[in-house]
This record gives sequence, structure tokens and C-alpha cells, in this order.
Amino acid sequence: MKAAVYYENGGPDVFRYEDVADPECHRKGIVIRVEAVSIEGGDTLNRQGGALASSPHIVGYQAAGEVIAVGEDVTTIRLGDKVVTTGGFGSHAELRAVSARTAWVIPEGLDIRQAAAIPVPFGTAHDCLFEFGRMKAGDIVLVQAGASGVGVAAIQLAARAGAAMVLATASSDERLEKLKPLGLTHGINYRRDDVAKEVARLTDKHMADVIVDSVGGPTLQSSILSLAYRGRVSMVGAAGREPMKVDVGSMMGGNRSLSGVFLGAEIATDRVHDNIQQLIADVASGSLKVVIDRTFALSDAAEAHRYIESRQAVGRVLLIP
Ligand SMILES: NC(=O)c1ccc[n+]([C@@H]2O[C@H](COP(=O)([O-])OP(=O)(O)OC[C@H]3O[C@@H](n4cnc5c(N)ncnc54)[C@H](OP(=O)(O)O)[C@@H]3O)[C@@H](O)[C@H]2O)c1
Repeated sequence: MKAAVYYENGGPDVFRYEDVADPECHRKGIVIRVEAVSIEGGDTLNRQGGALASSPHIVGYQAAGEVIAVGEDVTTIRLGDKVVTTGGFGSHAELRAVSARTAWVIPEGLDIRQAAAIPVPFGTAHDCLFEFGRMKAGDIVLVQAGASGVGVAAIQLAARAGAAMVLATASSDERLEKLKPLGLTHGINYRRDDVAKEVARLTDKHMADVIVDSVGGPTLQSSILSLAYRGRVSMVGAAGREPMKVDVGSMMGGNRSLSGVFLGAEIATDRVHDNIQQLIADVASGSLKVVIDRTFALSDAAEAHRYIESRQAVGRVLLIP
């Protein structure tokens, strides 16, 4: 099969488009012919500095396609099903092997490109808001990096759950504007404005009850300073590519809290597996929207990663084999 591979970490130029051995089907797994790869935020970070599980290495968490092999222990998925899959690596390829536990059957009528972009961002945003952020109707929610994959999902989920206000940050006004139809109440351009001061102004000093922060280093302190009394930050990523140095001194007085969230630790549980299947159904029924910014050919993986790192995308960028 063809795959976008690399032999060492680095910028997008490390990608090579090469022939590699086809993946083998595990007895508890499946193999798919990939039709759409959703480039996840973690893929660009892993390319830059993650461990190489193999050489050459195929990066990538999430891809959708048709099932072409099924392990002998698998009873939930059949040959020919269209599925969306997640795994630790291996999405940037024509074929992909994963555990059947991290594959979800795509309902009839749902575009496979949309389905490709659901499990990780929507599952993560859902856990950040509800499982760890304990969000309820009437809360004020702040989403850092609202134009990101996780951000686009979090804005919609918070609005749908009856947030009194959904605030989000981004590095440009143009991208904040595009988030309004998804449920954004007010955008904050964090390149220009002080986030905590803007949250205070927009909420009449109530501040944010729940905050989803997938940027980390450059934003985590502003998240802590933006918390309401008893407010909760779900810290879920390091897209800002800087060390996280925070002063938690302001948290105790207001009974505020900060939780780390890692979907990968829970994705194979019944709770998260079933939740993701429901989120896929919600996209199929139109109650949630997948936002696809652009698609590139798999052979142009370097260009696609470069585009994502230029910070122009709203939602997902896909690769098509
Ligand atoms: N823990 C988990 O379970 C989990 C699950 C999913 C994702 N994540 C993590 O969450 C983060 C976001 O994932 P995602 O899929 O939402 O990412 P994404 O769609 O690629 O978006 C990343 C966002 O980060 C912002 N950003 C801030 N500083 C940046 C920088 N120096 N370079 C590039 N982008 C920068 C950009 O928005 P602005 O330009 O507007 O700032 C961009 O929209 C990643 O670190 C990912 O690994 C963790």
C-alpha cells in the first residue's frame, strides 16, 4: 500500500509518500481501505516530536473507510461495513488495521468524510464539558482555540446543552466570525485581547463556569484566571507548543478546579464507545455539524500539515487516498 511516512520527527517536510507493507489483521481487529483521514491536532504534534513506534512511521489517530478484513473474534463488524476508526497511529495510509473496539459503524446516509472527523474531537469535547467539566444548562462556557477540531465540537455541544453563554478564543477575528452559526455567543481574539479581562467584561464579572483548554502553555493561566466561583477547567491538549507554567494560587479561594482529560484512557470503555456512537448518530440526524475546512490528497500530507500549522483552518482538514 501507499502511505505518508516519515523516518524522523520534524516539520511537514519529513513526510515521504512511499510503498510500505500492508497491515495485518489481528484476531480482535479489522482492516479498512481508507477513504478519508481526519488530521487530528495530536497528529501534527506527534510528527513534530512524538515517539516513532515503527520505521518508517505512519502517523495518525483517525480515519474512515470500508472494512476489507475482520478478525476471527470480531462479532460487531462485518466485511463491507463502512466504519470510522481510531488508534495510536497509522491513519495516513491507504490501508489501516485497528482494534474492533475503536471502530464505529457509520449509519446509512452519513457522508464518510463527515464521519471520519467525529470520534476524537467530539468524544473529547463531550468528556471535557460533561464528564469532567460537569457542565449543566445555564452555565457560562469558555472554549480556548474555538476554531480547532475540539473547539468546533465543544461550542456546539455546550450550546446544545443550554449554556447561558458560549465564549471562545481564536487567533483571528475572521475565524471567530465563522463560529457564530455553531452557537458562539462572543469571540475573543487572544492575539489582541486579554482573555480574563474580556471574560469579565462579557459576563458582567460572573466569569466562566466550565472551560475547555486544548492549547495549554500560552493559555492555561488565562483559563485559570477566567474561572467563576466553583468553575472547572478541562485541560486537554498542548496545541500551543509551549511548556505549561501556571500559578494555581487563585484557585483555592474560589473552590475552582483543574482536571486533565485524556480520551485515549477511556475510549475503549462502554461509556465512551457508546457515547461516540451516539455522537455519530447526532451528526447523521443533523443535530451536530462536522466542519471540514479543506481536503488534500494523501500524497500531499506535508502540504496539509503545513496548512494546519498556518492556523487558518476552521474545523478539520482531511486527506483522501
Ligand atoms: N487529551 C486528549 O484526549 C485529546 C483529544 C483530542 C485532542 N487533544 C489535543 O488537543 C489539542 C487540539 O487538538 P485539535 O484536534 O482540536 O487541534 P487542531 O484542530 O489542529 O487545532 C489546534 C488549534 O490550536 C491553536 N493553536 C494555538 N497555538 C498554536 C500553535 N503554536 N500552532 C498551531 N496551532 C495553535 C490553533 O487555533 P488559533 O490559531 O486560533 O490559536 C488551532 O486551531 C492538541 O494538542 C491535541 O493533541 C487531546
